Amino acid sequence: MTNQDHAHHRINHELLAAQAEALLSGQRHRIANAANLSALIYQELPDVNWAGFYFVEDDRLVLGPFQGKPACVEIPIGQGVCGTAAKLNQVQRVADVHQFDGHIVCDSDSESELVVPLVKGGFVIGVLDIDSPTAGRFSEADEHALTQLAKIYENSID
Ligand code: SME
Repeated sequence: MTNQDHAHHRINHELLAAQAEALLSGQRHRIANAANLSALIYQELPDVNWAGFYFVEDDRLVLGPFQGKPACVEIPIGQGVCGTAAKLNQVQRVADVHQFDGHIVCDSDSESELVVPLVKGGFVIGVLDIDSPTAGRFSEADEHALTQLAKIYENSID
């Protein structure tokens, strides 16, 4: 990747954040905003085969709005990349999902994955999950950008 590509990505990230702010402002419904944000991410981020939400219910994550192929409905907290992000309240940026112990295969096209926990009122309420068919797709800059989008989402809901 050239420096120019990096600069290009950075500009897209800023644009994406501005688009997300505009899209989610004026609407505080958590499902509606999750649906629109997953659509925005899927449309705007290149080389992504799945983008969506899981929400915490009791001891598991339950599938929320997403774009991509049909996915696993329930993930126990602490399992898979999503359940690990939720349990630890830590971003999981996985360059090669086949190297992640306990990775849950939903779409066999997925090679790398970025999962950002969603926090509201001090509690993890769910995760934002992005998958790519390319190993190592997600950079540190992508992690920052998706973390920013997760914050925009958290602030947009009650
Ligand atoms: N791979 C995830 C499961 C969710 S799908 O990628 C949509 C995981 O290991 O938690």
